[in-house]
Amino acid sequence: MMRHEFPGLQQQVHGKPLVYLDNAATAQRPQAVLDAINNYYLKHNANIHRGVHSLSESATELYEQARNSLARLINAPSEKDLIFVRGCTEGVNLVAQTFVRSRVKAGDEILISHLEHHSNIVPWQILCEQTGAKLKVIPMNQQGELVLDDLDQLLNERTKFMSVVHVSNALGTINPVKKLIAAAHAKDIPVLIDGAQATPHIKVDVQDLDCDFYTVSGHKMYGPTGSGILYGKSEHLSAMPPYHGGGEMISKVTFESTVYNAVPAKFEAGTPNIAGGIGLGAAAEFMMTVGMDKIAERDQVLKVYAEQALSEVPGLRLVGTATNKSPVFSFVIDGIHAHDIGTIIDHHGVAIRTGHHCTMPIFQFYGLAGSCRASLAFYNTEQEVDVLVESLLKAKAMFQ
Ligand code: ALA
Repeated sequence: MMRHEFPGLQQQVHGKPLVYLDNAATAQRPQAVLDAINNYYLKHNANIHRGVHSLSESATELYEQARNSLARLINAPSEKDLIFVRGCTEGVNLVAQTFVRSRVKAGDEILISHLEHHSNIVPWQILCEQTGAKLKVIPMNQQGELVLDDLDQLLNERTKFMSVVHVSNALGTINPVKKLIAAAHAKDIPVLIDGAQATPHIKVDVQDLDCDFYTVSGHKMYGPTGSGILYGKSEHLSAMPPYHGGGEMISKVTFESTVYNAVPAKFEAGTPNIAGGIGLGAAAEFMMTVGMDKIAERDQVLKVYAEQALSEVPGLRLVGTATNKSPVFSFVIDGIHAHDIGTIIDHHGVAIRTGHHCTMPIFQFYGLAGSCRASLAFYNTEQEVDVLVESLLKAKAMFQ
């Protein structure tokens, strides 16, 4: 599906056609994204929001059009509610320090889940060290699903904020975030959703979710590395102080004081990743052209096929078998180290990730040091899944 649009997929590795199954780490980019970046550097290369000359004006227009494309992708009420950031990590840190920090004191609680990526754990631990607040965790079960039995107690009068991942990068679990947000809001607790692995796979509607904040990672959704979006409800963004000080985020500076610019400029100090933002806008347009419904449908077809195919590898155990999940498969094979598997199948052209996938607590839960992870995108094929399975069987044969 639209596979021909991705030049990166058309190459060979170790003399074999590339089978790229490491999309949760970073996806390949369609030609439209590469063209948008090239077009900016070739024809519009200038700084934005600063110049009166033609190139600066056209670059600014491209950048702001990209913001508009991203707002449409996640159905934000306005593109002004979107801040360009380096990625989800920066988005979470920004919210922790500019929204949550001033609202918590010693003894208060921040609620996350056991399925978080380190980027949605460590910023909250830093905040807890700064404030004396405590980190609380929604537990998980063997299937890799969140256990919500005690949610009512976990969301209590001490809870000042909840930050939960939409789709697990390690296991693929799609969390019931709408339900979680409603439960938190019933107690006036604001919520951030980490959408790094959601936007590549499912239709996200921030108004329907009613989340307070939502983070988007550019390079996971076929856009450039170092690009991303933080969505925030406008009343929050207007009330929050800036995160970084510098050029562009001001409307007046004297040595005595500074008046900050309006949102979103208030949060975009310094020359931003202009080409990255424009490329990310092109990725959003590309995905809307393909259609998020079609992408989600194709994902599920691949998921069912891969689940069945992997179950035929003797000694392979899937880690995380949630009912509602994206086509991300963590697995271990009896008697073979994950890194050995990854290295051997690379020689068959197959790219997967091995290790803890920046989610050590998940693997501590399973009593594992890590896993192999095949993460599929809508452009992968059933035939590529077959190549993965064949290469795993060859790896097994080498160890017997
Ligand atoms: N968070 C990325 C992954 O899951 C890097 O691999």
